Amino acid sequence: MLPNTLFIGQKQIFLPVCESTNSEAQQLLIKNEAIEGCVVYTAQQTHGRGQRGNVWEAAPGCNITLSVVLSPTFLPVRQQFYLNIIVSLAVLDLLREQGLAEAQVKWPNDLYFKDKKLGGILIENTINSYAIQHSIIGIGLNINQTQFTFPTATSVSLLLGQEMSVEVMQNRLLELLEKRYLELRSNKTARLKYEYLQALYRYQETHHFLVANKQVEGQIVGVDEDGRLAVEIANELQYFAFKEIGFVI
Ligand code: BTN
Repeated sequence: MLPNTLFIGQKQIFLPVCESTNSEAQQLLIKNEAIEGCVVYTAQQTHGRGQRGNVWEAAPGCNITLSVVLSPTFLPVRQQFYLNIIVSLAVLDLLREQGLAEAQVKWPNDLYFKDKKLGGILIENTINSYAIQHSIIGIGLNINQTQFTFPTATSVSLLLGQEMSVEVMQNRLLELLEKRYLELRSNKTARLKYEYLQALYRYQETHHFLVANKQVEGQIVGVDEDGRLAVEIANELQYFAFKEIGFVI
């Protein structure tokens, strides 16, 4: 079964086991064997990679574990955070279609339901001086897994109380991703940013954060063009890059 798309997912490579679908996609690019929209997916990763050099663990055969190769050469390098925005929104679109209306994105691109993590995104870009040549979009989304090492993890089936078809959900995700990608290609950046902020976990609420190993109280007020998180702390607006701030959950 192929998704109803123009190019995303029209070529799919299934690997029963692999180290990491992002690494496999990278190898395809190196060998010049990856066309735009091509998808690598697996039932089991042995060295799944997460953000900040973390390991991504998933029970075999239960979840969506895939990488999509895109060539967003139209996107200026300084706007690369829009890739995080559209991928987050596509996964949220999928979760909300399934009835998980309260799904949110924890900056920069973790998928959350209330205070539990449903999935993550790892985007790896190849950049030349002006443009993004290739982007590998890695998505891990917990679908039917019921047991986790981390108490803060959950899955779609745990939340909905029923087992889901990973294949059906994966193809729908590819359709929604293409829709969001085409919105970006048609320059709907203001609208995309607005939707991202509306879906942002703990947006405009007062919470504790970890900054330079200290707990501070602050309020997320936005995300700047570079994707930095804007947080108001003690009446002062501060901007944080990815590793500079942590959420206290
Ligand atoms: C995170 O939350 O830290 C990001 C997790 C990203 C995991 C996905 S699973 C498919 C793709 N291949 C990888 O090795 N990582 C991403």
